[in-house]
Amino acid sequence: MRIFWVLLFSSSISTAEPVGDVRLAPGDFKGGYDKLDYETDSLSLPARTGIDADLIGNIKSEHLGLPSFSAYQQEAPDASAIALGRKLFFDRRLSRNKTMSCAMCHIPEQGFTSNELKRPIGVEGRNLKRNAPTLLNVVFNRRLFWDARESNLAQQVWSPLLAKNEMNNPSVGHVLEQLHSDEEYFDMFMNTFGETANIMNVGQALAQYQQSLIGGGSRFDQWYFGREKTALNTLEQKGFAVFMGKGACQSCHNIGDSYALFTDHQLHNTGVGFEESMRKDPKSITVQLAPGIQASVDQSLIRSVGEEKENDLGLYEVSLNPMDRWTYRTPSLRNIAVTAPYMHNGEFSSLDEVIQFYNSGGAPNELLSPLIRPLNLTNHEHLALKEFLKSLTSNNLPELVLDGFAAPVGDVL
Ligand code: HEC
Ligand code: HEC
Repeated sequence: MRIFWVLLFSSSISTAEPVGDVRLAPGDFKGGYDKLDYETDSLSLPARTGIDADLIGNIKSEHLGLPSFSAYQQEAPDASAIALGRKLFFDRRLSRNKTMSCAMCHIPEQGFTSNELKRPIGVEGRNLKRNAPTLLNVVFNRRLFWDARESNLAQQVWSPLLAKNEMNNPSVGHVLEQLHSDEEYFDMFMNTFGETANIMNVGQALAQYQQSLIGGGSRFDQWYFGREKTALNTLEQKGFAVFMGKGACQSCHNIGDSYALFTDHQLHNTGVGFEESMRKDPKSITVQLAPGIQASVDQSLIRSVGEEKENDLGLYEVSLNPMDRWTYRTPSLRNIAVTAPYMHNGEFSSLDEVIQFYNSGGAPNELLSPLIRPLNLTNHEHLALKEFLKSLTSNNLPELVLDGFAAPVGDVL
């Protein structure tokens, strides 16, 4: 049975723009969902058609605006390992109840994140504490996770595979036994690694696939690094000037001379986490039950049926240093137009809200980064900055998405 509905688009999606022939957006945008005459455009998974990409070729080709792959690679690229990693990544049988794959939180057509959820939902509807980061260009992240607690892609995979609220496997051995008993996996592991699945090579295979999800060559790259004068329009160029100057965004989201990763690989306190920690819940909230039907629900009722939301203190949870409270890793801004919602907790659903947040000086607290301060941007500068951010979408994204569509999802027949 297929349990989730994907794809197709509504013309009312404003943030997601078509790149090539592929619409990068959630299947069911829910534009007009508050009206009784709402109609969905969703299609089921089998209705998607994919095209296999040459992923190793993608690694080896030049990507304007990105640093050299070999300086960051964690595994020596290997076509057979990438293919195995891709199969594992999309395979729902890798979760305890065989419903949830990595790709269901890192959804290809949603920028390899989840556009529809501030914080994704794992096996049996369990909440996660943070927003799912995009996996595009993940190989260039020196530290992984919002609190930078991990640095190795091959090791990282055991965290979602075993987390109770993610894929919920009871043990490493449980996952490995599944892989040993499946003939296709058995052969693929033997052919790729010369041994059966183990705690190392499952991670290596998944890391190989994730490493291949790289893309530069955005319109910004063509303009800045490729010196194509017309690749950005005047408004976008103005936005770049704001990014570098009045907005001082580049002090953390770095742009270098020969490449730009839009991150300093450091952690900072912008106040997003502080504000959430200090926020008082409203007594009741309005919940949309179905098209045109809403209900006001008491918070105490929601709390009685839901899991308590975990506190989130950022890097403090790793270092236990009180000075690190509410500091999070600077995310890259590549492909930002397709990776909403934003921030470690998915606080903002649009780039307008993010820019507004920075413009007003973040959320003041005793540990706020000194680099965050009111910007006094005019409306025109705000708009220009947004347009600039939207020029950072990689030109090969459609290929990576279509490749994802071509992967089997591991349904149990
Ligand atoms: C239930 C949703 C969910 C599933 C399933 C899931 N992830 Fe994630 N993933 C997340 C969230 C949320 C984070 C951020 C967690 C944090 O920072 O504390 C994350 C973070 C990551 C990161 C770190 C990226 C970065 O830039 O820091 C990687 C890599 C990753 N996931 C890969 C995977 C792989 C591989 C799988 C499958 C084995 C997987 N994920 C399954 C939700 C999910
Ligand atoms: C002090 C360093 C710093 C500065 C300056 C800064 N940022 Fe950030 N940015 C961060 C950090 C850290 C996060 C993650 C914060 C969080 O989740 O709590 C972030 C998150 C973001 C995000 C969300 C990314 C995502 O994937 O969720 C966007 C968009 C963004 N910043 C744009 C900007 C813009 C535009 C400016 C300039 C107006 C700017 N930033 C200035 C450090 C900075």
